[in-house]
Amino acid sequence: MRTCSSLKPMTTLTTVTWYANPSARTWSCPRPADASAFHAGLPGYAPTPLTELPALAAELGAARVFVKDESTRLGLPAFKMLGASWGVHRALRDETTLVAATDGNHGRAVAVMARLRGLHARIFVPDDVHPASIAAIRAEGADVVTVTGTYDAAVERAAADAAAPGALLVQDTAWPGYEDIPRRIVEGYGTLFTELDAQLAALGAEPAGLVAVPVGVGSLAQAAVEHYRSGPTAPSLLAVEPESAACALASLTAGRRVALAPGRTIMHGLNCATLSTLAWPVLRAGLDAAVSVTDDATVRAARDLAALGVPAGPCGAASLAGVRAALTDERRPALAPHPTVVLLSTESVEANPSITA
Ligand SMILES: Cc1ncc(COP(=O)(O)O)c(C=O)c1O
Repeated sequence: MRTCSSLKPMTTLTTVTWYANPSARTWSCPRPADASAFHAGLPGYAPTPLTELPALAAELGAARVFVKDESTRLGLPAFKMLGASWGVHRALRDETTLVAATDGNHGRAVAVMARLRGLHARIFVPDDVHPASIAAIRAEGADVVTVTGTYDAAVERAAADAAAPGALLVQDTAWPGYEDIPRRIVEGYGTLFTELDAQLAALGAEPAGLVAVPVGVGSLAQAAVEHYRSGPTAPSLLAVEPESAACALASLTAGRRVALAPGRTIMHGLNCATLSTLAWPVLRAGLDAAVSVTDDATVRAARDLAALGVPAGPCGAASLAGVRAALTDERRPALAPHPTVVLLSTESVEANPSITA
């Protein structure tokens, strides 16, 4: 099976920290399927909070700043259940085992889906995943297999393992020949943006003008682009990645999907060397900007968010670090004025306790 990592790692890339596409906001695409009614029927469903942070509005020069706080989503400390639940719901036939690779959050969501459906789960993790994340996946009843190497290596192992009879691969990234379930997973993520629009309207706020999205393989950002480039409002969409794993930034800059050499970051869920093949054309056409941030910047952002009552983990706090870099660095081309800035805080500090106080 050919997976994302069949691209040769790129080692000669000059370090780039910023990318902008001025024509992205006029691009449009068809409306993706809406999974929000399905999610609303799941036990324990409630929209995640949208928290207004006036202190950040003052700092960032925006009229209003909100954080969409995914620290508790369907009983888990990250947004990932939105995709895993809809993907499994749409794809499961008579399989008895769910298989996935993960940096932590997606695998835990797949393990929960297996438990809820009375199935087995086998989850492959790269060896740098936090022990607490591994323990949390095991606590859901899944078998965890540690893979020496990167997230992409774990995806390869999971894909090979899922060739066994009775196994269903539930992966949140696509490659040629493996697209149906990742497409469903992206549709599932769309519920986050449907909730967000309704919450802003209910608060009497302007529609989102700038949305910052943490990027690993790009599926969540794909959901953001497909949601906002098929609807009535056209916010700027900013991708935020770790400096050591900025595969969207590298691909957008190179004009083709590239694979990076493995890097290390505390933003485990974003530590991906290659974009999903489904995400790539969508991000290239519809993403306004991409920026990379350091671990130090995300740690600072997480501490600032914690002081404001938002328990963001390293991936979740990356959104704030990225907006800070995009809006306050004079060397970068200006984004359009943004009365309403929305930061996606995609995980709680409990999901990835790499940030020490
Ligand atoms: C907490 C968190 N935020 C963001 C992402 C990035 O999502 P994607 O890989 O779809 O770009 C992930 C992916 O695992 C994640 O776990």
